[in-house]
This record gives sequence, C-alpha cells and structure tokens, in this order.
Amino acid sequence: MDTERFAGKVALITGAASGIGAASARRLAAEGAQVIICDRNGTAAQQLADELNTARAFELDVTDLERTLEVVDGLERVDVLVSAAGVDVCDTVPNTSPEEWRTILDVDLTGVYNSCRAVLPRFVAQGGGAIVTISSAIGTVGERNRSAYCAAKAGVENLTRAMALDHGRDGVRANCVAPGLIDTPLIRNGKVGGEDDPGAMQAMVDRHHALGRIGQPSEVAAAIAFLASDDASFITGAVLPVDAGWTAQ
Ligand code: NAI
Repeated sequence: MDTERFAGKVALITGAASGIGAASARRLAAEGAQVIICDRNGTAAQQLADELNTARAFELDVTDLERTLEVVDGLERVDVLVSAAGVDVCDTVPNTSPEEWRTILDVDLTGVYNSCRAVLPRFVAQGGGAIVTISSAIGTVGERNRSAYCAAKAGVENLTRAMALDHGRDGVRANCVAPGLIDTPLIRNGKVGGEDDPGAMQAMVDRHHALGRIGQPSEVAAAIAFLASDDASFITGAVLPVDAGWTAQ
C-alpha cells in the first residue's frame, strides 16, 4: 500500500478476527494505523495481531459494556472505530425464538451502541474521531427470512445518522457501510451459504447482485478505510452501499 492515510492513528476494530473486520484491520494497518483488534474470539484476535506487527489484541464481547469501556479506557489514544462484530440468524418472526431475537439485537445493535458509547467521550474530548458502522443491504431494504437481522441493521443505520448529527460540531464523523453478500465465515457457515443448501448463496447473488458475483471482504474494507480517512472529511451520516447494485433495484 503506497498511501499512509492512517499514519500515527489508532484504529479500534470490533469483530476484527474474521471476515470484514479482519480485512479492515489488514487494510488500515497497511495504511499506517496501529490497529486494536477486538473480538470475542481472543485466540484468533491474537493470531491476527501477531501477523500485523503494529497491532494489539483484546478478547472483547461487544455485548459487555463494562469490558468495552475497560479496553477503551486502557488505550492511550483512539482515532477510529470500526464496529464490525456481528452475528446472523435467518428466519421469520414466528420462527425466531425470543433468545435468538435478543442475541441478534444484543450483538448487532446494542454492541454498536456499546462500542460507540466507549469511544465517543474520547473523540469529543480530543476534538475529533471517525466511526464506521456496518449495516447490510438488508438494513436498507427488507429480505425474507431475516427478520431480526433486518431490524438490527436498520437500527444501526439510523443510530449512525443520529450520532453524526449529535457530534458533527465535536469534529466526529459517523458513517455506515451496507454490504451485499460477502464471502466470509458468517455466510459460509450460515443458512444462506451453508453446505445444507449450496445453491442458496448463488441464487441470492443472481437475484440481488447486478455485478453477478459475491463480494470479497477486502472490497468492503476499502470502503471502510475511505470513510474512516480524511479523504471523507466532508462526509458524515452517510450509509454507503457496498452491495454490487442490490439496493439500486
Ligand atoms: P464473520 O463471522 O466473518 O466475522 C464476525 C466476527 O465478529 C467474528 O470474528 C466473531 O467472532 C466476531 N463476533 C461475533 N459476535 C461478537 C461479539 N459479541 N463480540 C465481539 N466479537 C464478536 O462475519 P462478517 O461477514 O465479516 O461480518 C462482519 C459484519 O458485517 C457483521 O456486522 C455482519 O452483520 C456484516 N455484514 C456481513 C455481510 C456478509 O455477507 N458477510 C453482509 C452484510 C453485513
């Protein structure tokens, strides 16, 4: 990478041990950031930190606000938050148990609140910072059999807009990326891309992606890096589709 957009900056990434979070950690580190790799899978987080020599790892479950505050308070500085931790449950409301509903909302929406709750006072005190949250194409439009996930991701998008409005005058920018289907363990191990129905993922790609192929984590990381960088200095409150044309329909 010949650009150093994050030289001297510290970027905290949740869900950074896999998929889009890990690709973001690699991208931001390649552009000069010191990366704080947070994931509930502490072993995988440490493995990635060892690979990127400017990184530190923390075992962190984003549903745990106290632990999130502890990690952030222990850092000397933070300039960027990428909130990538997420889980998926695929089903209708009657087929989504109250426990599954709570889990999705806890991780995918409250986890974003917890992470932002931890960094925002720092960003306000230091007069700036950039937040990038991750929604989904199906945070913007509905999708069958994904009720809890659709609800949580729509919440992430409007939470991001609310933070942008509340903290613009503090020098804080908050933006969101909304990916289409991306080739990660979340999809490969889930109902959509799982081995029990190998045709389901291609059917979704055919139905939704104008570009006719699945996306790669690095393609989402490139958009995240842009929104987190000074190249996006006049952009806040935006939800950027990274979805191969899904929501253009
Ligand atoms: P992934 O499963 O590859 O990575 C998610 C990471 O989050 C894992 O390392 C996991 O250990 C971590 N994680 C899960 N729950 C956590 C918790 N409570 N606390 C801390 N870490 C936790 O998934 P992927 O695909 O990289 O997803 C990243 C984000 O992108 C998620 O928010 C997901 O909803 C979103 N997304 C993914 C899409 C896809 O097609 N893969 C499409 C649209 C959005």
